[in-house]
Amino acid sequence: MSTSKIRRIAISTGGGDAPGLNAVIRAVVMAATNRGWECVGIRDGFNGILNPERYPQGGTLPLTPDTVRGIAHLGGTIIGTTNKGNPFHYPVVQADGNVQDTDRSDELLDWFKARGIDALVSVGGDGSLTIADALHKKGLPVVGVPKTIDNDLDKTFTTFGFDTAVSFATECLDRLHSTAQSHQRVMVVEVMGRYAGWIALHAGIAGGAHGILIPEIAFDIDKVAAKVKERDAMGRQYSLIVVAEGAQPRDGERAVAAAAEIGHAERLGGIGERVAAQLAERTGKDARTVVLGHLLRGGSPTSFDRLASLRFGTAAVRALEDGMSGVMVALAFPNVNYVRLDEVAGRMKAVPMDSDTLQTGRDLGITFGD
Ligand code: F6P
Repeated sequence: MSTSKIRRIAISTGGGDAPGLNAVIRAVVMAATNRGWECVGIRDGFNGILNPERYPQGGTLPLTPDTVRGIAHLGGTIIGTTNKGNPFHYPVVQADGNVQDTDRSDELLDWFKARGIDALVSVGGDGSLTIADALHKKGLPVVGVPKTIDNDLDKTFTTFGFDTAVSFATECLDRLHSTAQSHQRVMVVEVMGRYAGWIALHAGIAGGAHGILIPEIAFDIDKVAAKVKERDAMGRQYSLIVVAEGAQPRDGERAVAAAAEIGHAERLGGIGERVAAQLAERTGKDARTVVLGHLLRGGSPTSFDRLASLRFGTAAVRALEDGMSGVMVALAFPNVNYVRLDEVAGRMKAVPMDSDTLQTGRDLGITFGD
């Protein structure tokens, strides 16, 4: 089938939500409608198709300029999302109660064929784009759009959602300075990011943290405690330490809140409390933890994320019009370009050790615990 003969497309948003998803949906629908195409949104990743009984209102949603009016500035996704619905590893409960890892991708492809849907715009992070690549390899025309607050996708300057998360975390740090200073405390701020330290690094530097612990640099808690004591000795009796949820202690384990299940990755969390307790013990100071968690995923996208999302969504439609498949829209600052999905899938963009942002932090006197 030639993808240039598009009549009807589907949109799916997968993985953790990120500010800007609705702007992408609006952009895809407007650009597609302007080409005379129809759009349908699949609810909750692919669950709307694979689990229709869960959706009395229907597992899909027709998307028109009316349904996407006034949504570009809203957080969340009007079609829903999930990080538990990988069609290639779907958890299917057997008669005996056991859960079986099942490949249901053929059902998905049959569904597309039966509905006359010519192509898919898959909006997601590494997990969703790996699925998108596999669907493309099975013959479905697919274009991906890079979403995640974590900014850990390769081959794109940034993902949408990251700037909003960093802006919010920075505002939180701004607010925590005064209370930490008033009480002469150590405030430990845990932020999301999975196995990458982008949110912690960028917000930590912008928000004036005194220590930043990221997964890419195994940290020694004694070095962090030394920084707190050094500040105390200089009369600056409070410290702000930003800890990425995936931060790795030099002599210990990552903090895992829940183990992986079929079709669902492990959940990180808890390192902030651990670091606060260790700092209190080593410095004799009062220490408190703030876990920003899902607050980082909410709210209105910043203008940067909103514009990136609108550009990504329309670029995805142009790609389909040009007959492309198996590609992801990317930001090659300042322009948008296309990269192969198989060059993105299964890879993670970590903070590079030669990053000038990292060096900026070091030159400002911020400790990374190394
Ligand atoms: O990938 C986005 C993200 O917010 C990560 O930073 C975090 O580890 C994960 O999703 C949490 O997912 P959830 O709580 O939705 O399972």
